[in-house]
Amino acid sequence: MSEKLSRFSGTGDYIVSEELQNSVNVAIALGRPLLVKGEPGTGKTMLAKSAAENLGLKFIIWNIKSTTKAQEGLYVYDTVQRLYDSQFGDRDVSDIKQYIRLGKLGEAFTSDEQVVLLIDEIDKADLEFPNDLLWELDIMSYFIPETGETITAKNRPLVIITSNAEKELPDAFLRRCIFHYIDFPDKAMMASIIKVHHPDLEERLMLQAMEAFYSLRNVSGLLKKPSTSELLDWVQALELGGINPDRLTHELPFLGVLLKKNQDLDRVPRNQQERGGRSKSFPYSQRG
Ligand SMILES: Nc1ncnc2c1ncn2[C@@H]1O[C@H](COP(=O)(O)OP(=O)(O)O)[C@@H](O)[C@H]1O
Ligand SMILES: [Mg+2]
Repeated sequence: MSEKLSRFSGTGDYIVSEELQNSVNVAIALGRPLLVKGEPGTGKTMLAKSAAENLGLKFIIWNIKSTTKAQEGLYVYDTVQRLYDSQFGDRDVSDIKQYIRLGKLGEAFTSDEQVVLLIDEIDKADLEFPNDLLWELDIMSYFIPETGETITAKNRPLVIITSNAEKELPDAFLRRCIFHYIDFPDKAMMASIIKVHHPDLEERLMLQAMEAFYSLRNVSGLLKKPSTSELLDWVQALELGGINPDRLTHELPFLGVLLKKNQDLDRVPRNQQERGGRSKSFPYSQRG
């Protein structure tokens, strides 16, 4: 791989496939946002953190909620404060600039150093959201009419956008992004992930736990399949509980760490759920 396409190579605590490394590096080289899709727990958020760390760049996170508007990423004009000041304060309210608060995009654009900007879980917002940001992400610049100011990126940030849902994003938006789908990790990859989080875990416990975990994911009709983060918690619970790996062939202790819905718990045969959740050796309450 040419030097221009080999800047990102992962970090010690983040296992990254070669294709994902390539996607990140292509996004950097082309200066395009990287859109990362995948099931929850496949390491999308952590990828951005790892990229910032690996590239030695400042990390800015914009967490998207159902109520988030694109405008908030650019700037908000605090008219309420201005009105308050005009009545009770001693500030010069004609200077509107002091009431303009830059959003995360503004923060990323005005930063003196290049940054990694994570727009996390873009699918949570309404359909208009991605379209409303198209232009600004493309030209990395926007105008603030209230002050006549133009905010332009001093250094083009590496923008990483994540999306969980199946929900499709608008074509015009997709056209401007580099796309990467993170597959759910296979067993070899999962073993590496577990090892970076729990380096001292007994090998046999890890293998049996993975075996049980993947069969559980195959139970048909689960409303919420357990993800990587749940497996990581589970192996920790099993270790803390001093669970013998052989037990996992016929029993699933601490099942509430893996399954979070009553209906899903009902799908797992009772005999597999037995005893474990009430194991005396386990230091925490299962329902906690
Ligand atoms: N490739 C990976 N390498 C190391 N840890 C990972 C990896 N993928 C997932 N994890 C772990 O799984 C958990 C969930 O990852 P996260 O980035 O929050 O997933 P997502 O954003 O896709 O829902 C985190 O605790 C993370 O440490
Ligand atoms: Mg995430």
